[in-house]
Amino acid sequence: MKLKIAKLPGDGIGPEVVGQAVKVVDAVAKKFGHEVEYSFAYVGACAIDKFGNAYPEETHKVCLESDAVLFGAVGDPRYDNDPTAKVRPEQGLLAMRKQLGLYANLRPVETFKSLVHKSPLKEELVDGADFLCLRELTGGMYFGEKGRRDNGDTAFDTNLYHRYEVERILKLGYEYARRRRKHLTVVDKANVLESSRLWRQIAQEMAPQYPDVTTDYMYVDNAAMKLITGPKFFDVLVTENTFGDILTDEASCVSGSMGLLASASIGEHTGVYEPIHGSYPQAAGKNIANPLATILSAAMMFEYAFGLMEEGKAIRRAVALSIDKGIVTEDLAGDGKKYSTSEVGDWVAAHI
Ligand code: IPM
Ligand code: MN
Repeated sequence: MKLKIAKLPGDGIGPEVVGQAVKVVDAVAKKFGHEVEYSFAYVGACAIDKFGNAYPEETHKVCLESDAVLFGAVGDPRYDNDPTAKVRPEQGLLAMRKQLGLYANLRPVETFKSLVHKSPLKEELVDGADFLCLRELTGGMYFGEKGRRDNGDTAFDTNLYHRYEVERILKLGYEYARRRRKHLTVVDKANVLESSRLWRQIAQEMAPQYPDVTTDYMYVDNAAMKLITGPKFFDVLVTENTFGDILTDEASCVSGSMGLLASASIGEHTGVYEPIHGSYPQAAGKNIANPLATILSAAMMFEYAFGLMEEGKAIRRAVALSIDKGIVTEDLAGDGKKYSTSEVGDWVAAHI
């Protein structure tokens, strides 16, 4: 099969971790007889520096013309403490999600047997946890009307949701639940927010169409607690954009390191596959960042963009083996040897 992949490493540790995922993709292609064609494009702070725009038109074109986007991270400390900045690296990611119509963000959380003791949570709580966070990605406060009034002294962000946006993400939630343990948890704040009441109303309308799936409803504050006190409760957790952003960072603690959490963003056009950890600027260029989340995102790319399940499995197997054997970066190494980003990438690629 011919695989057209857009490579968007972005900022910070993005280029290093995407570099490792590319080694692994190449190894998979070689083993399974696929031909990969990469195109490179700028996004985030590096795109602002070069084009004055975090998601330039050229980049969008490259994405549209590819079958999948392998994405690193965006962000740069130069912008972090400047609330007045007119252009920001994060706008690149948001524009890409919006323009590609990527309304569904899948963030699976699993535990690795040899890592459960690394979780900040008690081993018996996390051992065996396995759930999918499904985050709505192109609506809510991220994209609703925002602005300032009163000479800048009043600010607002609107948490706007349309019925069709809620329906399509819940539908996906039900479909994934059907393929898993048939349990969907709809997370909202329906006791306070009108937008959440719309979510809950629509979920209640849809639930009878999926009698084989157990639906339950949970307030987001309670879900935040449940994620760390009883993560095994969850199978598929579906929620709106902002809640999903927050809860998935929290959920990453379950697996022991943020450096392990992969994601896929899918919707109307080309899907984007990226680690959830962000640009981690303190580690940029040091060859110490954990590449496994990006490598696992490449596994999701094979599975979701190309329907190549065996290829995805081959990557997952090699990653699990590297963890078992302790071929890991400093975030996971504990008292053991700390391998560099590129050593881990080389090892996983060699074990495909
Ligand atoms: C994420 C990130 C982004 C988000 C930022 C970088 C805009 O935190 O993918 O979770 O908030 O969605
Ligand atoms: Mn986030």
